[in-house]
Amino acid sequence: MDLTHRPRRLRRDGVRGLVSETSLEPSDLIAPVFVDATTDERVPIESMPGHERVPVDESVARVEEVLETGVEAIMLFGVPESKDPEGTRAWAEDGVVQEATRRITDETDAYVITDVCLCEYTDHGHCGPLEEELRGEIDHEHGSACDPTLTVDNDAALESLERIAVSHAEAGADMVAPSGMMDGMVAAIREALDREGFEHVPIMSYAAKYESAFYGPFRDAADGAPAFGDRRHYQMDPANAREARREVALDAEQGADVLMVKPALPYLDIVSLVRREFDHPVAAYNVSGEYAMLHAAAEKGWLDLEAVAHESLLSIKRAGADLILTYFAEDVARSLERGR
Ligand code: PBG
Repeated sequence: MDLTHRPRRLRRDGVRGLVSETSLEPSDLIAPVFVDATTDERVPIESMPGHERVPVDESVARVEEVLETGVEAIMLFGVPESKDPEGTRAWAEDGVVQEATRRITDETDAYVITDVCLCEYTDHGHCGPLEEELRGEIDHEHGSACDPTLTVDNDAALESLERIAVSHAEAGADMVAPSGMMDGMVAAIREALDREGFEHVPIMSYAAKYESAFYGPFRDAADGAPAFGDRRHYQMDPANAREARREVALDAEQGADVLMVKPALPYLDIVSLVRREFDHPVAAYNVSGEYAMLHAAAEKGWLDLEAVAHESLLSIKRAGADLILTYFAEDVARSLERGR
């Protein structure tokens, strides 16, 4: 047996760190924060231990907690006080995300990214107005709005997304992140932002967002589950990888500044593909289900939570992500600081 090559030589203490290829930093992480206009106290999110929906009045305090861990950026999600078929509260000047953004950017140094979507704001829970609703074909009294074949009007949704993005920028958002998977959304938002004098505001596109069952806990948290049907008419089919390259290329052509893949762990092949094929910064969203499953196993004593959280984020970076959106941001940043 030829043992000239012994990889174990480089695994000893002292040298292991020198040859380590990937590292995690708190500055790689973005912490999601939920602001809720329906409550005046902090409400824990049961399926996402350690996370809460906070009223606007608590938004600054919540973000300060994040900043204390060393994480510098947040992704803001809102739960509005009321919903309607078109999701009009999503672009209201006094909307929940707009108010919170104003306060957070006035009072903290956090880099504020806002989720630009309609599903938390429409009463049917889809990511844009429904074609049939706009054509007056829905019989609300008899509940035919539950027909799973109903679908979102892509181009009408674009107009709403433009309004939302501009209203977030006006409130002070540092970056906007459209997550609705509407065709043409990046171009529409880029044009609207430029027209209104927000050329400096970058767009992080949820470029390859899959129709995933891993979003379950988030939909409870943000109250954004579709009231009927699912999102397979607009989010990507988990079976497809080549399609991801096409989707991402379109967003890149339309001016996306950062390209995101979502979810992260079940889609590391896609993270790696986007890393190889594009020069843009690549983001990956380690979603609510990825967080919840590790917590659930740790609660049973089956996994070491701190270790699996770190290993998960390291894998996502190794696959090619520059930035990671994760509910583990604060915990992992704290443990990184402790380890220094
Ligand atoms: C849509 C949106 C979703 C998530 C982020 N933005 C939910 C969806 O597409 O149904 C999911 C995030 C997560 O699961 O952590 N606004």
